[in-house]
Amino acid sequence: MKYKTQKVAYWFWALSMLLLTIQLTYGFIMGFARLGYDGLHNVIPFNSAHTVHLNTLVVWLISGFMGAAYYIIPEESETELWKPKLAYAQLIALTLVGVAALAGYHFNIWEGRKFLEIPRELDWLVAIDVILFLVILLMTILKGRKKSTTVWVLFGGLAGAAVLYLPGMISFDSQVLDSFFRWWVVHLWVEGVWELIMGGILAFLLIKLTGVDREVIEKWLYVVIGLTFLSGILGTGHHYYYVGVHKIWLIVGGIFSSLEPLAFLAMTLWALNMYRKGEKKHPNKLAVTWTLAAAIVAFLGAGVLGLAHTLPQTNLYTHGTLVTAMHGHLAFWGAYASIVFAMMTYAMPNLTGRKFYDHARGRMAFWLSNVGIFIMVSAFAAAGVAQAYLERMLGYDFGQVQNKIQIHFWVLILGATILSTGIILFIIDFIKYGLPTDEALES
Ligand code: HEM
Ligand code: HEM
Ligand SMILES: [Fe+2]
Repeated sequence: MKYKTQKVAYWFWALSMLLLTIQLTYGFIMGFARLGYDGLHNVIPFNSAHTVHLNTLVVWLISGFMGAAYYIIPEESETELWKPKLAYAQLIALTLVGVAALAGYHFNIWEGRKFLEIPRELDWLVAIDVILFLVILLMTILKGRKKSTTVWVLFGGLAGAAVLYLPGMISFDSQVLDSFFRWWVVHLWVEGVWELIMGGILAFLLIKLTGVDREVIEKWLYVVIGLTFLSGILGTGHHYYYVGVHKIWLIVGGIFSSLEPLAFLAMTLWALNMYRKGEKKHPNKLAVTWTLAAAIVAFLGAGVLGLAHTLPQTNLYTHGTLVTAMHGHLAFWGAYASIVFAMMTYAMPNLTGRKFYDHARGRMAFWLSNVGIFIMVSAFAAAGVAQAYLERMLGYDFGQVQNKIQIHFWVLILGATILSTGIILFIIDFIKYGLPTDEALES
């Protein structure tokens, strides 16, 4: 069953694609700056580029999740969205706040706390916007005919993300306290509530794409949530090793964060098993590919590459180096970027009536972007290990080390070019789909 108000999703994804383009552009600015080609320095210094790169990333993913929620929740709850006009207002408000924040970063208006750079005044607008979003979803769920586990998990993840935004809005005089609570947002998002969002979307996609019984699929969802909370909450300790808090965190963080990959492994096994059990009859092959890729690459980027630097003994050397960038890129890509692409690839044919199910451009978009990101991640890995050794063991200065590891940034640019080609193809597809239509949603 399809519902006309699911169209709202399209516009959130359009915003996502726009922000993604900006994110990649600023990535290139940083990559070239690292190579010494920093001609834009007076207009866009490295710190501005970095902030824009990270904030566009977070907002395009959130906009992608919002689109997914506006698509999934009416369908799962078997009802039209509650007050769709408010949903459009919520999108416009989100866009305006985003534009204001991005413009501000070019004029040094920011808070300087990585990922939470948005000025406090704008934080309040973000909070109001998100509350509106949650109210629309909740009213839809409550008036709906059905209340599925998948919907509650998705809603719970989104609501949790809203609540956990608040610790980042408290002001502290102490650097230690500030750092302590910053991780409640950054860590408990990506290694906590966002995993529920991913789990919810994954469950929906597996139900639709494999044809396996909902009961079986949703049972796995409980396992994923259990493992996420069991490991992820105390796993926050892997950011507390050397920030000035009690040393008990060395042990707590080390043990619990080492367990975190299990939640991602469970997602991989879940998706692969459901695929194997399923009838493999769904015509939207590309959506199946993106879905399986999200489940697998999330485990590699978050689980495997997270584990690589999560023990205090290794983190002592790798903290804040390009090893972190290596992990950050593949984790965000595999888990959250890929699940948004999977969701879009599944939903766009249904919204527009155009069935780009398994065509060459879509396949190229998938392969180029994934091969590109793996090349980038390898470059960051090689550069990061060398950097950790030269800086932290041999005591060279940051600038001296940058000269020695420059070659890896050429490889990074190569990978980024391949990745961007893939993304451009994905966006061309998105445009070629055209606008969502009532007829498509009625069929
Ligand atoms: C999809 C899930 C994940 C995403 C998106 C993610 C992303 C990131 C990002 C962006 C950072 C840098 C944060 C900052 O400096 O502000 C980071 C740091 C870190 N991540 Fe993850 N991560 C994920 C899961 C994991 C998991 C499961 C582990 C452990 C097994 C892990 C271990 C670490 C560690 C130890 C650091 C600190 C690095 C440092 O000290 O510089 N991450 N992660
Ligand atoms: C054109 C493609 C891209 C290029 C050239 C690029 C380049 C860069 C560079 C140079 C940095 C700064 C590294 C440092 O100096 O510490 C960075 C940071 C970051 N980028 Fe990208 N990037 C690209 C695409 C992406 C994508 C697609 C994602 C997510 C899916 C992403 C996520 C991140 C994250 C999370 C960080 C912060 C890493 C950390 O915490 O250390 N980037 N990027
Ligand atoms: Fe973490």
